[in-house]
Amino acid sequence: MSQPLRIGLAGVGTVGAALMRILEDDREDITRKLGREIRVVAVCARSRSRDRGVDLSDVEWYDDSVALARSPDVDLYVELMGGEDGPAYASVTAALEAGKPVVTANKAMLAKHGLSLAAMAEEAGAQLGLEAAVAGGVPVIKTVREGLGSARIERVYGIMNGTCNYILSRMANEGISFEDCLRDAQELGYAEANPTFDVEGQDTAHKLAVLTALCFECEISAKDIFIEGITSIDKADIEVAGDLGYVIKHLGIAQRSGDGIEQRVHPTLVPKTSTIASIGGVLNAVALETNHVREVLLAGPGAGGEATAASVLADIFDIARGNHVPPLGVPVKELAPYKRGKMRAHEGGYFIRLIAKDVPGALAAIASRMGEEGISLESVIQRPDLEITVEGASTENARTVVLITHETVEQTVRDALAKIAADGYILGTPQLIRIEQI
Ligand code: HSE
Repeated sequence: MSQPLRIGLAGVGTVGAALMRILEDDREDITRKLGREIRVVAVCARSRSRDRGVDLSDVEWYDDSVALARSPDVDLYVELMGGEDGPAYASVTAALEAGKPVVTANKAMLAKHGLSLAAMAEEAGAQLGLEAAVAGGVPVIKTVREGLGSARIERVYGIMNGTCNYILSRMANEGISFEDCLRDAQELGYAEANPTFDVEGQDTAHKLAVLTALCFECEISAKDIFIEGITSIDKADIEVAGDLGYVIKHLGIAQRSGDGIEQRVHPTLVPKTSTIASIGGVLNAVALETNHVREVLLAGPGAGGEATAASVLADIFDIARGNHVPPLGVPVKELAPYKRGKMRAHEGGYFIRLIAKDVPGALAAIASRMGEEGISLESVIQRPDLEITVEGASTENARTVVLITHETVEQTVRDALAKIAADGYILGTPQLIRIEQI
């Protein structure tokens, strides 16, 4: 039997503690499968006294993650602290400089520094495992990097944030408020340390940036992503969308567009009949549209300690077995520079929710502005039953109006809405949600 693989673990929070529990509970099984034991020999964490439900009495404590990453007693460094810079980045670079393999779940760091870290890993001949950084327990990185062979990916899209999906699902199914759902997601260990990263869409954008590079063999470019979160989604949007045969999901989408790649993150109406519409709660799903295999859909728990730790462990298995693939699928020098593609016209159009004044001519004026901009309307619905509030305005004589447009381009819709607002027939800011026929 070979020597144990000695892990240095930085960050013993939800995921780190779950990893230690799995290693303990599955010790015999892991050792049998790998022919060697995996043992956490040293940790670095914020508090020594906090009860994490795992036995840390036999491990060496480090206050400095860089020192842990460099320790000669550690064969593999696992970074689960988070943060795009700071100790996470410093310690991962220290480990790679020392030629030591690294496993990380840190999508924020990878979105910003993934390219240079991948280059550093390649130069050092060390592995950099990043499965846990995208879609928690769903093995999407391995599928893209190794499972699809030479298939050319045309589009990747999916639900990549468990917290957003959990919130939208519960709002839809149970009518619970956004705030209550977010609090529950935090208690269940799904949300980031700063949950605005989840609900404002940055977390999905970080994951999408990494996935885009792998799918399209280009450099990582997180700054080129169009991002909208879910904080503006109202119960009324969910209800009306449902009546019209749609579900609202928060999606990350990257696709070839002209000679570039378009990346966007936003709430999206998807048909109730689509597979992605049925992915509820903390589940994530990533769809890969390719030339050879058409569509592959992977789904599973996208957040939570145990699921994410399972992905960390899968990377540790690869490293223990000596499986060596470039971190971003192809060597960094083979990656094309990222070229931003234009946001396309969206098939299926737009969902627009307006608060219109209930006066003669309002609806006709709204429809006519749409017509002037060449926007064709699929349906116009008045919902006098929906409760409405608009800050600073009386809504006594106002009604909710929902328009669904046929395919058109976003700027045209925005231009029409600006004219409608200037006509004085609406209150507040219109809600605009893209529709994807997927
Ligand atoms: N906060 C993330 C989510 C955790 O909710 O999906 C997994 O990256």
